[in-house]
Amino acid sequence: MPGSIDRKRIGSDTISSIGLGTYGIKNYSKAFEAYVYGLTNGIDHVDTAEMYDMGRAEEFVGEVIKHVGRDGVFITTKMLPNRLDDREKIVRTAQESLRRLGVSYVDLYLIHWPNERLSITQQVQNFEVLIDKGLTRYIGVSNFSLNQLKEAVYGAKKTPIVALQVHYSVLNRVEVEEQLLPFCMSQKITLQAYTPIERGSVKDNPCIKAVSERTGKTPIQVSLNYLISHENVVAIPKAERIEHVKELIGAMGWRIPEAQMNYLKKCLQ
Ligand SMILES: NC(=O)c1ccc[n+]([C@@H]2O[C@H](COP(=O)([O-])OP(=O)(O)OC[C@H]3O[C@@H](n4cnc5c(N)ncnc54)[C@H](OP(=O)(O)O)[C@@H]3O)[C@@H](O)[C@H]2O)c1
Repeated sequence: MPGSIDRKRIGSDTISSIGLGTYGIKNYSKAFEAYVYGLTNGIDHVDTAEMYDMGRAEEFVGEVIKHVGRDGVFITTKMLPNRLDDREKIVRTAQESLRRLGVSYVDLYLIHWPNERLSITQQVQNFEVLIDKGLTRYIGVSNFSLNQLKEAVYGAKKTPIVALQVHYSVLNRVEVEEQLLPFCMSQKITLQAYTPIERGSVKDNPCIKAVSERTGKTPIQVSLNYLISHENVVAIPKAERIEHVKELIGAMGWRIPEAQMNYLKKCLQ
Protein backbone atom coordinates (compact mmCIF):
# COMPACT_ATOMS: atom_id res chain seq x y z
CA MET A 1 0.00 0.00 0.00
CA PRO A 2 1.32 3.50 -0.77
CA GLY A 3 2.48 5.49 2.25
CA SER A 4 0.86 8.72 3.36
CA ILE A 5 2.62 10.80 0.68
CA ASP A 6 0.54 8.97 -1.86
CA ARG A 7 -2.83 9.26 -0.20
CA LYS A 8 -4.59 12.27 -1.67
CA ARG A 9 -7.61 14.15 -0.41
CA ILE A 10 -10.75 14.24 -2.55
CA GLY A 11 -13.80 15.76 -0.89
CA SER A 12 -13.50 14.41 2.63
CA ASP A 13 -12.05 11.07 1.47
CA THR A 14 -8.52 10.00 0.66
CA ILE A 15 -7.55 7.97 -2.38
CA SER A 16 -4.32 6.60 -3.83
CA SER A 17 -2.34 9.00 -6.06
CA ILE A 18 -2.73 6.58 -8.95
CA GLY A 19 -6.10 5.33 -10.17
CA LEU A 20 -6.97 3.27 -13.23
CA GLY A 21 -8.64 4.64 -16.36
CA THR A 22 -10.82 2.47 -18.58
CA TYR A 23 -10.90 4.10 -22.00
CA GLY A 24 -10.08 1.87 -24.97
CA ILE A 25 -9.82 -1.54 -23.31
CA LYS A 26 -9.26 -4.15 -26.02
CA ASN A 27 -9.20 -7.46 -24.19
CA TYR A 28 -11.65 -7.40 -21.28
CA SER A 29 -10.78 -10.81 -19.87
CA LYS A 30 -7.07 -9.98 -19.73
CA ALA A 31 -7.90 -6.55 -18.34
CA PHE A 32 -10.02 -8.13 -15.59
CA GLU A 33 -6.94 -9.78 -14.10
CA ALA A 34 -4.93 -6.55 -14.34
CA TYR A 35 -7.58 -4.34 -12.69
CA VAL A 36 -8.25 -6.85 -9.92
CA TYR A 37 -4.52 -6.94 -9.29
CA GLY A 38 -4.32 -3.14 -9.18
CA LEU A 39 -7.34 -2.74 -6.91
CA THR A 40 -5.97 -5.26 -4.42
CA ASN A 41 -2.40 -3.97 -4.47
CA GLY A 42 -2.45 -0.29 -3.59
CA ILE A 43 -4.73 1.34 -6.16
CA ASP A 44 -8.19 2.21 -4.89
CA HIS A 45 -9.93 4.24 -7.55
CA VAL A 46 -11.14 3.67 -11.04
CA ASP A 47 -12.31 6.07 -13.72
CA THR A 48 -14.93 5.29 -16.35
CA ALA A 49 -17.67 6.99 -18.40
CA GLU A 50 -21.00 6.12 -20.02
CA MET A 51 -19.31 6.93 -23.34
CA TYR A 52 -16.46 4.41 -23.10
CA ASP A 53 -17.14 1.50 -25.41
CA MET A 54 -20.84 2.47 -25.30
CA GLY A 55 -21.30 1.41 -21.69
CA ARG A 56 -19.13 -1.72 -21.87
CA ALA A 57 -16.39 -0.07 -19.79
CA GLU A 58 -18.88 0.65 -17.00
CA GLU A 59 -20.05 -2.97 -17.13
CA PHE A 60 -16.42 -4.05 -16.91
CA VAL A 61 -15.88 -1.88 -13.82
CA GLY A 62 -19.02 -3.51 -12.38
CA GLU A 63 -17.51 -6.98 -12.94
CA VAL A 64 -14.26 -5.95 -11.26
CA ILE A 65 -16.09 -4.33 -8.31
CA LYS A 66 -18.20 -7.44 -7.84
CA HIS A 67 -14.96 -9.39 -7.49
CA VAL A 68 -12.97 -7.02 -5.23
CA GLY A 69 -15.93 -5.57 -3.25
CA ARG A 70 -17.60 -2.16 -3.37
CA ASP A 71 -16.11 -0.91 -0.11
CA GLY A 72 -12.73 0.62 -0.51
CA VAL A 73 -13.04 1.42 -4.21
CA PHE A 74 -13.66 5.02 -5.21
CA ILE A 75 -15.61 5.00 -8.50
CA THR A 76 -15.69 7.94 -10.88
CA THR A 77 -17.94 8.01 -13.92
CA LYS A 78 -18.85 10.74 -16.38
CA MET A 79 -22.02 11.93 -18.06
CA LEU A 80 -22.31 13.24 -21.61
CA PRO A 81 -23.07 16.98 -21.80
CA ASN A 82 -26.22 16.59 -23.92
CA ARG A 83 -28.01 15.10 -20.87
CA LEU A 84 -27.59 18.22 -18.78
CA ASP A 85 -30.54 20.33 -19.90
CA ASP A 86 -33.08 18.24 -18.04
CA ARG A 87 -32.92 16.88 -14.48
CA GLU A 88 -35.07 13.85 -15.21
CA LYS A 89 -32.82 12.95 -18.12
CA ILE A 90 -29.79 13.30 -15.83
CA VAL A 91 -31.34 10.96 -13.26
CA ARG A 92 -32.35 8.39 -15.90
CA THR A 93 -28.88 8.46 -17.44
CA ALA A 94 -27.25 7.99 -14.05
CA GLN A 95 -29.57 5.10 -13.20
CA GLU A 96 -28.49 3.37 -16.43
CA SER A 97 -24.82 3.87 -15.58
CA LEU A 98 -25.36 2.60 -12.03
CA ARG A 99 -27.12 -0.47 -13.40
CA ARG A 100 -24.15 -1.21 -15.66
CA LEU A 101 -21.79 -0.64 -12.74
CA GLY A 102 -23.91 -2.82 -10.45
CA VAL A 103 -23.81 -0.25 -7.63
CA SER A 104 -26.37 2.00 -5.97
CA TYR A 105 -24.16 5.09 -6.07
CA VAL A 106 -20.82 6.26 -7.42
CA ASP A 107 -18.32 8.30 -5.46
CA LEU A 108 -17.75 10.97 -8.07
CA TYR A 109 -19.84 11.99 -11.07
CA LEU A 110 -18.23 14.29 -13.62
CA ILE A 111 -19.67 16.37 -16.44
CA HIS A 112 -17.55 14.86 -19.25
CA TRP A 113 -17.16 18.19 -21.00
CA PRO A 114 -19.21 21.40 -20.94
CA ASN A 115 -22.54 21.68 -22.71
CA GLU A 116 -22.01 24.72 -24.93
CA ARG A 117 -25.77 25.41 -25.26
CA LEU A 118 -26.40 25.86 -21.57
CA SER A 119 -24.85 28.23 -19.05
CA ILE A 120 -22.26 26.54 -16.86
CA THR A 121 -24.21 27.60 -13.77
CA GLN A 122 -27.40 26.02 -15.10
CA GLN A 123 -25.78 22.73 -16.07
CA VAL A 124 -23.99 22.41 -12.74
CA GLN A 125 -27.16 23.17 -10.78
CA ASN A 126 -29.06 20.60 -12.85
CA PHE A 127 -26.27 18.08 -12.27
CA GLU A 128 -26.62 18.57 -8.50
CA VAL A 129 -29.82 16.53 -8.69
CA LEU A 130 -27.51 13.48 -8.54
CA ILE A 131 -26.55 14.49 -5.01
CA ASP A 132 -30.20 15.08 -4.03
CA LYS A 133 -31.09 11.60 -5.25
CA GLY A 134 -28.11 9.91 -3.56
CA LEU A 135 -26.75 8.63 -6.86
CA THR A 136 -23.29 10.08 -6.24
CA ARG A 137 -21.37 11.30 -3.21
CA TYR A 138 -19.50 14.08 -5.03
CA ILE A 139 -19.66 15.96 -8.30
CA GLY A 140 -16.97 17.46 -10.50
CA VAL A 141 -16.18 18.55 -14.04
CA SER A 142 -13.89 17.54 -16.88
CA ASN A 143 -12.36 19.42 -19.81
CA PHE A 144 -13.40 22.80 -18.35
CA SER A 145 -11.25 25.88 -18.95
CA LEU A 146 -10.26 28.02 -15.99
CA ASN A 147 -13.17 30.42 -16.56
CA GLN A 148 -15.63 27.56 -16.96
CA LEU A 149 -14.29 25.95 -13.81
CA LYS A 150 -14.69 29.19 -11.88
CA GLU A 151 -18.28 29.52 -13.07
CA ALA A 152 -18.96 25.93 -12.02
CA VAL A 153 -17.43 26.43 -8.59
CA TYR A 154 -19.27 29.68 -7.92
CA GLY A 155 -22.50 28.42 -9.51
CA ALA A 156 -22.82 25.18 -7.54
CA LYS A 157 -25.52 25.72 -4.93
CA LYS A 158 -25.82 22.58 -2.88
CA THR A 159 -22.50 20.82 -3.04
CA PRO A 160 -18.92 21.79 -3.90
CA ILE A 161 -17.08 20.85 -7.07
CA VAL A 162 -14.45 18.49 -5.65
CA ALA A 163 -12.59 17.45 -8.81
CA LEU A 164 -11.43 18.63 -12.20
CA GLN A 165 -10.33 16.00 -14.71
CA VAL A 166 -8.09 17.28 -17.51
CA HIS A 167 -5.28 16.20 -19.81
CA TYR A 168 -2.13 16.60 -17.76
CA SER A 169 1.20 14.92 -18.32
CA VAL A 170 4.84 15.83 -18.02
CA LEU A 171 4.72 16.64 -21.75
CA ASN A 172 1.48 18.65 -21.48
CA ARG A 173 1.84 20.62 -18.31
CA VAL A 174 2.36 24.33 -18.81
CA GLU A 175 -1.25 25.50 -19.10
CA VAL A 176 -2.40 23.15 -16.37
CA GLU A 177 0.31 24.29 -13.98
CA GLU A 178 0.02 27.99 -14.72
CA GLN A 179 -3.76 28.27 -14.76
CA LEU A 180 -5.77 25.36 -13.46
CA LEU A 181 -3.60 23.96 -10.70
CA PRO A 182 -3.28 27.16 -8.60
CA PHE A 183 -7.07 27.72 -8.69
CA CYS A 184 -7.69 24.06 -7.82
CA MET A 185 -5.29 24.35 -4.88
CA SER A 186 -7.06 27.47 -3.62
CA GLN A 187 -10.46 25.75 -3.80
CA LYS A 188 -9.33 22.35 -2.47
CA ILE A 189 -10.23 20.76 -5.80
CA THR A 190 -8.46 17.52 -6.69
CA LEU A 191 -7.04 17.49 -10.20
CA GLN A 192 -7.36 14.11 -11.93
CA ALA A 193 -4.73 13.88 -14.67
CA TYR A 194 -5.90 11.97 -17.73
CA THR A 195 -3.69 10.61 -20.52
CA PRO A 196 -0.91 11.05 -17.92
CA ILE A 197 1.65 8.87 -19.73
CA GLU A 198 0.69 10.06 -23.23
CA ARG A 199 -0.46 6.54 -24.16
CA GLY A 200 2.96 5.18 -23.13
CA SER A 201 5.00 7.53 -25.30
CA VAL A 202 6.60 9.37 -22.35
CA LYS A 203 9.01 6.47 -22.11
CA ASP A 204 10.82 7.59 -25.29
CA ASN A 205 11.50 11.15 -24.14
CA PRO A 206 15.26 11.74 -23.60
CA CYS A 207 14.78 14.10 -20.61
CA ILE A 208 12.57 11.58 -18.83
CA LYS A 209 14.96 8.76 -19.73
CA ALA A 210 17.85 10.67 -18.17
CA VAL A 211 15.93 11.09 -14.87
CA SER A 212 14.96 7.43 -15.05
CA GLU A 213 18.62 6.42 -15.21
CA ARG A 214 19.52 8.69 -12.30
CA THR A 215 16.66 7.62 -10.03
CA GLY A 216 16.54 3.93 -10.92
CA LYS A 217 12.80 4.23 -11.68
CA THR A 218 11.29 3.57 -15.09
CA PRO A 219 10.37 6.48 -17.40
CA ILE A 220 6.66 5.71 -16.87
CA GLN A 221 7.17 5.87 -13.10
CA VAL A 222 9.16 9.12 -13.35
CA SER A 223 6.43 10.68 -15.51
CA LEU A 224 3.67 9.75 -13.08
CA ASN A 225 5.70 10.66 -10.02
CA TYR A 226 6.25 14.12 -11.49
CA LEU A 227 2.45 14.63 -11.58
CA ILE A 228 1.59 13.20 -8.19
CA SER A 229 4.34 15.16 -6.49
CA HIS A 230 1.84 18.05 -6.73
CA GLU A 231 -0.23 17.98 -3.56
CA ASN A 232 -3.70 17.96 -5.09
CA VAL A 233 -3.01 15.81 -8.16
CA VAL A 234 -3.91 12.19 -8.81
CA ALA A 235 -3.25 10.45 -12.13
CA ILE A 236 -5.51 7.92 -13.84
CA PRO A 237 -3.44 5.97 -16.39
CA LYS A 238 -5.12 3.09 -18.20
CA ALA A 239 -3.39 -0.29 -18.32
CA GLU A 240 -4.93 -3.62 -19.24
CA ARG A 241 -1.66 -5.55 -18.97
CA ILE A 242 -0.82 -6.74 -15.49
CA GLU A 243 2.89 -5.96 -15.93
CA HIS A 244 1.91 -2.39 -16.76
CA VAL A 245 -0.28 -2.13 -13.66
CA LYS A 246 2.62 -3.33 -11.51
CA GLU A 247 4.82 -0.64 -13.00
CA LEU A 248 2.14 2.01 -12.31
CA ILE A 249 1.94 0.97 -8.64
CA GLY A 250 5.71 1.49 -8.44
CA ALA A 251 5.19 5.16 -9.34
CA MET A 252 3.96 5.72 -5.77
CA GLY A 253 5.72 5.88 -2.41
CA TRP A 254 8.79 7.95 -3.34
CA ARG A 255 9.63 11.34 -4.84
CA ILE A 256 11.95 12.53 -7.59
CA PRO A 257 14.82 14.32 -5.78
CA GLU A 258 14.74 18.11 -6.12
CA ALA A 259 17.87 18.29 -8.29
CA GLN A 260 16.37 15.78 -10.73
CA MET A 261 13.08 17.63 -10.71
CA ASN A 262 14.84 20.88 -11.61
CA TYR A 263 16.81 19.12 -14.33
CA LEU A 264 13.62 17.60 -15.76
CA LYS A 265 11.75 20.90 -15.91
CA LYS A 266 14.68 22.67 -17.55
CA CYS A 267 15.33 19.86 -20.00
CA LEU A 268 11.66 19.77 -21.09
CA GLN A 269 11.46 23.52 -21.75
N1 LIG B 1 -12.12 13.16 -19.21
C1 LIG B 1 -11.74 12.92 -20.43
O1 LIG B 1 -12.16 13.56 -21.42
C2 LIG B 1 -10.72 11.84 -20.67
C3 LIG B 1 -10.02 11.79 -21.89
C4 LIG B 1 -9.07 10.79 -22.06
C5 LIG B 1 -8.86 9.86 -21.04
N2 LIG B 1 -9.57 9.90 -19.88
C6 LIG B 1 -9.37 8.89 -18.79
O2 LIG B 1 -7.98 8.82 -18.50
C7 LIG B 1 -7.54 7.48 -18.68
C8 LIG B 1 -6.09 7.43 -19.11
O3 LIG B 1 -5.88 8.12 -20.32
P1 LIG B 1 -5.57 7.38 -21.69
O4 LIG B 1 -6.13 6.00 -21.68
O5 LIG B 1 -5.99 8.32 -22.76
O6 LIG B 1 -3.97 7.35 -21.79
P2 LIG B 1 -2.75 6.86 -20.89
O7 LIG B 1 -3.19 6.39 -19.58
O8 LIG B 1 -1.74 7.96 -20.96
O9 LIG B 1 -2.17 5.65 -21.74
C9 LIG B 1 -2.77 4.39 -21.80
C10 LIG B 1 -1.85 3.48 -22.63
O10 LIG B 1 -0.59 3.37 -21.95
C11 LIG B 1 -0.24 2.01 -21.88
N3 LIG B 1 0.49 1.76 -20.62
C12 LIG B 1 -0.01 1.70 -19.37
N4 LIG B 1 0.95 1.43 -18.49
C13 LIG B 1 2.09 1.30 -19.20
C14 LIG B 1 3.41 0.98 -18.84
N5 LIG B 1 3.72 0.75 -17.57
N6 LIG B 1 4.33 0.92 -19.83
C15 LIG B 1 4.00 1.16 -21.13
N7 LIG B 1 2.75 1.46 -21.53
C16 LIG B 1 1.80 1.52 -20.57
C17 LIG B 1 -1.52 1.23 -21.88
O11 LIG B 1 -1.28 -0.07 -22.34
P3 LIG B 1 -2.14 -1.38 -21.94
O12 LIG B 1 -3.54 -0.92 -21.76
O13 LIG B 1 -1.93 -2.28 -23.08
O14 LIG B 1 -1.58 -1.94 -20.65
C18 LIG B 1 -2.37 2.06 -22.82
O15 LIG B 1 -2.12 1.71 -24.16
C19 LIG B 1 -8.54 6.90 -19.68
O16 LIG B 1 -8.52 5.49 -19.72
C20 LIG B 1 -9.82 7.49 -19.19
O17 LIG B 1 -10.33 6.77 -18.09
C21 LIG B 1 -10.48 10.90 -19.67
